[in-house]
Amino acid sequence: MTDRFREVMEDRRIVLAPMAGGPSTPRLCAAVSDAGGLGFLAAGYLDLEALDRALGDVEELTSAPYGVNLFVPDAGPPEDAEARYDAYRELLIADGEYSPEVFPSEPHWSDDGFEEKLERVLSSSAACVSFTFGHPGERVVRRVPEAGKAAILYATSRAGILSAARSGADALGVQGIEAGGHRASAAGIDDDSAEDLTDLIAAARAATDRPVIAAGGVAGRDDVVRLLEAGADAVQVGTLFLTAREAGTKATHRRALLELRGRGTVLTRAFSGRPARTVENAFAAEHSAHAPALYPQVHYLTSQMRRLADTAGDPEHLNLWAGTGFAACRETRAAQLVRELTP
Ligand SMILES: Cc1cc2nc3c(=O)[nH]c(=O)nc-3n(C[C@H](O)[C@H](O)[C@H](O)COP(=O)(O)O)c2cc1C
Repeated sequence: MTDRFREVMEDRRIVLAPMAGGPSTPRLCAAVSDAGGLGFLAAGYLDLEALDRALGDVEELTSAPYGVNLFVPDAGPPEDAEARYDAYRELLIADGEYSPEVFPSEPHWSDDGFEEKLERVLSSSAACVSFTFGHPGERVVRRVPEAGKAAILYATSRAGILSAARSGADALGVQGIEAGGHRASAAGIDDDSAEDLTDLIAAARAATDRPVIAAGGVAGRDDVVRLLEAGADAVQVGTLFLTAREAGTKATHRRALLELRGRGTVLTRAFSGRPARTVENAFAAEHSAHAPALYPQVHYLTSQMRRLADTAGDPEHLNLWAGTGFAACRETRAAQLVRELTP
């Protein structure tokens, strides 16, 4: 067992969730680390140059430890991907809200540049590297400590916890069903998991003596205290940081979190083809039932629609990623939020 992650954390208890798609900025990452949390950059969806710039910016902004998160690609599109994509595209066009050109006619699959981004991250000054949507093989996991960094794997089910515990990772993240956005659920391992966070913490504690990071639904310090008491070593928070000034959250998403407090959240595949938790809106209500499990093809299918919705200030056709605690979001500075959350 290694204590690499504990050495990075010292008395840090709050981990900033990596949030791909805009919210994760170098300023947010650095502000959280400087305030005594562990900042994270999301490498997902960034091309190599953008990742390079983001890493350079974080390195300029802080000398405190921080982490980087990578998306692990799946094996490639299933055979019937094109037919299912076409059927969903036809439904979106039939809505009549957007012209057909908004929805690309060809499905796009990508490995998110995993290998080249991994190389770049391993040569960066990041103290931690975490992996989302899959558990990379032992050979990849081992390269992280060889580069002097702590490796973190996530799990959202008991099977995932056992797989992550066997992987040689320095720390294990568990994400409950309450969590905002996509969870890290490893394909083929964590499928259809729906356990709540305290049960997952207990299962992780029983499976490993490595540090456990708990994520999902945190609405304030009381939740942090509760999760630490349940056995977590640190608590990862995403949604509450979406309305921090340093976050790059889209304007319409930010406003929705602050103004649509009366709504609930739902899990839906409608926006990306992979279950993610969003504030309830019209698009999720209309399309959750028939959206195909095709990620990232559906993500690319809806991306121009989402961009247009953001520009138009329309929260009904935008992925409003949010955890169950989103009603506690308010405009604040990241450092202030870290202080408020830290027990
Ligand atoms: C907008 C948004 C984007 C996210 N992007 C990522 C990501 O790129 N990688 C990842 O591992 N998790 C991502 N997550 C999930 C977080 O890591 C974490 O599980 C979640 O935010 C915790 O729940 P909370 O939002 O209720 O605090 C994202 C969450 C949100 C809200």
